Amino acid sequence: MRRSLAKAQSRLNTASISPHDTSGFDVAVALFSAVRQVSDEVLHAHEGKVGEISGILGAALGLDVEEVTALIQAASLHDIGKFAIPAKILGKTGPLTPEELLEIQRHPVNGAQILINAGYGPDDAAVQAARHHHEKFDGSGYPDGLSGTEIPLAARITAVADVYDALRALRPYKKPIDHKTALKIILEGDDRTRPEHFDPEILAALLAQQALVQAVWEEPTTATARPSRRQN
Ligand SMILES: [Fe+2]
Repeated sequence: MRRSLAKAQSRLNTASISPHDTSGFDVAVALFSAVRQVSDEVLHAHEGKVGEISGILGAALGLDVEEVTALIQAASLHDIGKFAIPAKILGKTGPLTPEELLEIQRHPVNGAQILINAGYGPDDAAVQAARHHHEKFDGSGYPDGLSGTEIPLAARITAVADVYDALRALRPYKKPIDHKTALKIILEGDDRTRPEHFDPEILAALLAQQALVQAVWEEPTTATARPSRRQN
């Protein structure tokens, strides 16, 4: 299995995928699926956790089974555009240059395009989560500066799950944070995030389901202790 994963990842790295050329994106989505099929560790550590936590939040908000299923899939694919970003930028431990930050900030638009090329419709939850998971409820996010309920629900939910996961995870540039501290930062803010960035109803769902969210995030996977990808 490890050899299959290494092979799939190597093909992914060498595929002709560029943030300026979407012709390789169908290759990217196929390889992304291949990597996911042969590994429940590397990708599961981030994308899988964000998917599962999004599902918990969606269920708490009253979504039906079909909607929760689509949401879990959508949230699990939300960062697919990062496959077009050079690994040396994603794994950088020091501060990003403005150019590198711009490169990273292309991943929502690129990710949505990958999924559209793979056959998803523009209104599908997966495309909406990929494109809009860095929008902020107060309108200060990107790529489109949407605010409030202009931001599709799948993206608003994914955004909360994504930040929770990012705070808790070990990254090349940050230490992991425990559940209570992560929750406090999301609900009260710090120098990275503000509560106004999130839909208050989804924050209430996070608070109500915090024990389950913690349990799911802390379920052992072999990759939760290793550095994951840059979050911007
Ligand atoms: Fe992202």
